[in-house]
Amino acid sequence: MKRPIAMFAGTGHAVPRRALTNDEFAAMGIETSDEWIRERTGIRQRYIAGDGETLTSLVTEASRQAMADAGVHAGELDAIILGTVSPDRLMPATAVEVQAALGASRAVAFDLGAACSGWLYSAQVAEGLLATGQYETVLVIGGEVLSRIVNWKDRNTCVLFGDGAGATIVRRSTKGRGILSAYMRSDGNLADLLHRPKGGGCFPMNDAVLAEGSHYIQMSGREVFKHAVRSMADASDRALDGAKLSGTDIDLMIPHQANIRIIEATAKHANIPMEKVFVNVDRFGNTSAASIPIALDEARRQGRIVDGSTVLFAAFGAGFTWGSMVVRF
Ligand code: UT7
Repeated sequence: MKRPIAMFAGTGHAVPRRALTNDEFAAMGIETSDEWIRERTGIRQRYIAGDGETLTSLVTEASRQAMADAGVHAGELDAIILGTVSPDRLMPATAVEVQAALGASRAVAFDLGAACSGWLYSAQVAEGLLATGQYETVLVIGGEVLSRIVNWKDRNTCVLFGDGAGATIVRRSTKGRGILSAYMRSDGNLADLLHRPKGGGCFPMNDAVLAEGSHYIQMSGREVFKHAVRSMADASDRALDGAKLSGTDIDLMIPHQANIRIIEATAKHANIPMEKVFVNVDRFGNTSAASIPIALDEARRQGRIVDGSTVLFAAFGAGFTWGSMVVRF
């Protein structure tokens, strides 16, 4: 089928009330420093969910904004796809709780677990749903409350992640706007480099798991870093090739916000100057599946994306999963 099929008709985002700065880790007894975190990652602060704030509440707020932006009401939603690896409950999917909160009674709702690539995968699944002709309006969200699955004693991970949600409305393309090219990949051979080793079906939660903290996220940072740089560079090439464009044709690049050094390396490879790269990792940290849709919403609201803008997206995450898209707005 010929692209574009699907376009982004509205965006929104939500984060918890509380911002946690780098300096606050020392007071929590964690051996780290603002200087180390800023230099190695570019992160200055991240938002952390407090009492009463859940994945469902953040995603619902972001979704309401996106629906208002697109002029879509809940009864019009045909599907809700939530990219997340930090659901409120292991069963059922958080997407159905969001469906209930929104009153989107007609929609089919499900979660999609692709870690930091979750929104990018979900957008491509939504495009596929639209291509069947059976779906018109899909709510595509990336949302995470990673603060509840990181080990707050592990400085290798706890300084990196943040909570938040970004929502988008995907509808049938008009006037040549929408997804011009898209790419997805995964490699399960590398699953152990970034994972939650226990607490699932293979090693059910018990006192020993709790005591050793093996239900929390564990990451081999340096290895993940290398793969992220390589895979996001390759994914950017694929999406550009698919759209028959080069880096110089891109008005804005929105990469997954994990680490400023990964972002810079990816942009350099794609021949896109940093002035054309959207960066908010300094304020949000790594929000996994939420990072790209939060950045997309900020970029639109700041006027960095206007009608006709051509935007390159690239993501990489646990799995490993990675992918990319070129979108004309
Ligand atoms: O979202 C998609 C998946 N995630 C990513 O893309 C993240 C990819 N990885 C990274 O961004 C980087 O690897 C990190 C930011 C996680 C780490 O940066 P790095 O430059 O690769 O550092 P490293 O892991 O090689 O550690 C360097 C040193 C180590 O000390 P020694 O062994 O050299 O004495 C660490 O123990 O830094 C130490 N270190 C810290 N020091 C202060 C690790 N974490 C911290 C910390 N504060 N928070």
